[in-house]
Amino acid sequence: MSVRIAPSILSADFAALGSAVAAAERGGADLIHVDVMDGHFVPNITIGVPVVQSLRRIATVPLDVHLMIEEPDRYIEAFVDAGAAMVSVHVEVLPHLHRTVHAIRALGAKAGVVLNPATPVGTLADIAGDVDYVLVMSVNPGFGGQTFIPRSESKVREVRALLDRCGSRAPIEIDGGIDQQNVARVVAAGAEIIVAGSAVFHNSDPERATRELKAAANAAASPVR
Ligand code: DX5
Ligand code: ZN
Repeated sequence: MSVRIAPSILSADFAALGSAVAAAERGGADLIHVDVMDGHFVPNITIGVPVVQSLRRIATVPLDVHLMIEEPDRYIEAFVDAGAAMVSVHVEVLPHLHRTVHAIRALGAKAGVVLNPATPVGTLADIAGDVDYVLVMSVNPGFGGQTFIPRSESKVREVRALLDRCGSRAPIEIDGGIDQQNVARVVAAGAEIIVAGSAVFHNSDPERATRELKAAANAAASPVR
């Protein structure tokens, strides 16, 4: 199994996103993680469709768009049109999650579902076979630079077991508080897409930080997956 690294630009300098993305890509970033926040579902406000459009022009790897917004159905098409290759939505805001997941896929993007730390894995039981990936939040969404919640490690194992029971090889993405110290543990638990914001962009050398995180992640990956 090879682990993908998705640096989150949330912790980058927004006045210099182009060079942040380029540095992460030189370091081996497989995806660029884009955190969209609306000030309602989460307390913070970040960026929207025009920024994704601009990132698409300069990024050479796929854009992984994480929607931390209420009523995501209203914006999914615009984000895919802007260049999102992957779109993840929070189960906490969607009464018709099945419809939303299939709408994302119908637009040609990969559909991910996201679980907040307090949301049980069981909420995915009837949708697990339909999703392209599951994002496990290992902090409460809203801000970069928070501390990893240790329970997330066993949650990744639970999600993997659920997906396996459905016969799904959908990868698990983990997001929040991941760094050089804990990346091996979450990869060993079954995470295959690693989001890292401050560990990459609050480092004086984001290129090297990306490379080192990826090396640590891949060293912990099981060879069979
Ligand atoms: C948090 C965001 C994360 C954030 C991660 O709500 O979803 O993607 O950028 O930042 P770090 O890696 O600093 O926890
Ligand atoms: Zn995120």
